[in-house]
Amino acid sequence: KCLAGNSASNDRFVETKIGQVPISQSENVESTLSITVVGASGDLAKKKIFPALFALYYEDWLPEHFQIFGYARSKMTDEELRNLISRTLTCRIDRSENCGDKMERFLQRCFYHSGLYDSEENFGELDQKLKEKEIGRQPNRLFYLSIPPNIFVDVVRCASRRASSENGWTRVIVEKPFGRDAQSSGELTRCLKQYLTEDQIFRIDHYLGKELVENLSVLRFSNLVFEPLWCRNYIRNVQLIFSEDFGTEGRGGYFDNYGIIRDIMQNHLLQILALFAMETPVTLDGEDIRNEKVKVLRSMKPVKLENVVVGQYKGHSKGGKSYPAYSDDPTVPKGSVTPTFAAAALFIDNARWDGVPFLMKAGKALHTRRAEIRVQFRHVPGNLYSRNFGTDLDKATNELVLRVQPDEAIYLKINNKVPGLGMRLDRSDLNLLYKSRYRIEIPDAYERLLLDAIEGERRLFIRSDELDAAWALFTPVLRELEEKKISPELYPYGSRGPVGAHYLAANHNVRWG
Ligand code: NDP
Ligand code: BG6
Repeated sequence: KCLAGNSASNDRFVETKIGQVPISQSENVESTLSITVVGASGDLAKKKIFPALFALYYEDWLPEHFQIFGYARSKMTDEELRNLISRTLTCRIDRSENCGDKMERFLQRCFYHSGLYDSEENFGELDQKLKEKEIGRQPNRLFYLSIPPNIFVDVVRCASRRASSENGWTRVIVEKPFGRDAQSSGELTRCLKQYLTEDQIFRIDHYLGKELVENLSVLRFSNLVFEPLWCRNYIRNVQLIFSEDFGTEGRGGYFDNYGIIRDIMQNHLLQILALFAMETPVTLDGEDIRNEKVKVLRSMKPVKLENVVVGQYKGHSKGGKSYPAYSDDPTVPKGSVTPTFAAAALFIDNARWDGVPFLMKAGKALHTRRAEIRVQFRHVPGNLYSRNFGTDLDKATNELVLRVQPDEAIYLKINNKVPGLGMRLDRSDLNLLYKSRYRIEIPDAYERLLLDAIEGERRLFIRSDELDAAWALFTPVLRELEEKKISPELYPYGSRGPVGAHYLAANHNVRWG
């Protein structure tokens, strides 16, 4: 049942300047790209997808011939879609330039078709509109599923039957969540593969598109000073931290069905862990990298309940302002025990990482917004200076921090002599702060990922065996938390989270950075 007509077929013809020619013989026929944003009326489309497409257009990354269609049930004209998306397009790439002209030209390439998600007929109509724009060129089609997961399969069925490209490629970007557990994720993959091949499915994890996450492999594999230390002999623990200083505002209903472990840990943090801990890939080819990520995920044991702490934020008043509890959200069911915070310790059973705790912490409504990878190194054996300067120096081990956001930076904490005639030591940073070093605007993760999908680069997308391995690690503990209805520890909105997270770290001889 896979997509018919996805490969070039001999009996098809295209219009060219020199008349009709068989597509297979028409090397000179230019291609055209049609991007359809399914769920174009929604939050993600407005907030991220259209702005990312505009940024790509602005910087001339999109092919010369392209058109963008929005598709959703809401009734809208082309002009109304343009008005809607123009509100979130910005000239962020060059603030000094008035990009109004370019924005207008971009908007003229955006169109809208209203239809149902499970109507082959409506997708057939979309196909007709796409064909009108594609005439004379070889069409490549990219569908972005920016819709709730319960309608992914309907859309893929209708789009693949009625709106896939006949002569070019068809690719589908799928947004998370990819199921709720190993079983539902496997089921989703099985259903998608009834209509698409694995190569056509681009499962997005936008954390893989973040600049610092992309840089992780460069840092490791192209600097002699890091890779030799990247193992249990020198690294004491690794911390993967995600925190937001706001709650589930507006998304409580969606969130309650998933919780923070599924929302952040099983995907974003675990993907970073896999990139961090994988062996050197044979090449930079997407398949080689994904093979190494799968290997490392499969070397891990499922997370144990005793290695997990869960929390949920409660209401809090500060400076005359009051902040709501998670349970105050009217879309959250009464008595919900869904965690908005979790900390977990994970272990990799291989020669490189045996015994090294990988600690994850993710939470909403905490005191700060940050995403970081912290690597704490072991003590200097027989440290000369700790004899004279006390054992505190033993605690002050080197720490490498990759700050993914905000204010991207890589810094290494070192022990250093305070300048002067005496001998006093302190902790200093060797600091690579991106905004001081690079005078360019860092692209949004969605820009990189959209461009990769257009170019057929799969390195930053999740392959189905990776997804299976990721769910295998978290499904048992998620089931246990839910079956035992384990109550989360309450923590005040805007705090550092539950104290249980500190005990968990202490059990593994770790202090959170
Ligand atoms: P929305 O809830 O805004 O839904 C997108 C569109 O889908 C809506 O505009 C609506 O369009 C249609 N829709 C909504 N609910 C239903 C329903 N029950 N049945 C059929 N159609 C429906 O989602 P988002 O834009 O927030 O997110 C899209 C996808 O991206 C989701 O899978 C989400 O999990 C994921 N995601 C979102 C993020 C975000 O920041 N928003 C971040 C990361 C992932 P219409 O009524 O016009 O058909
Ligand atoms: C999404 C989660 O995947 O990532 C959200 O569903 C979270 O809950 C978001 O807020 C965070 O992304 P970013 O890029 O703002 O850190």
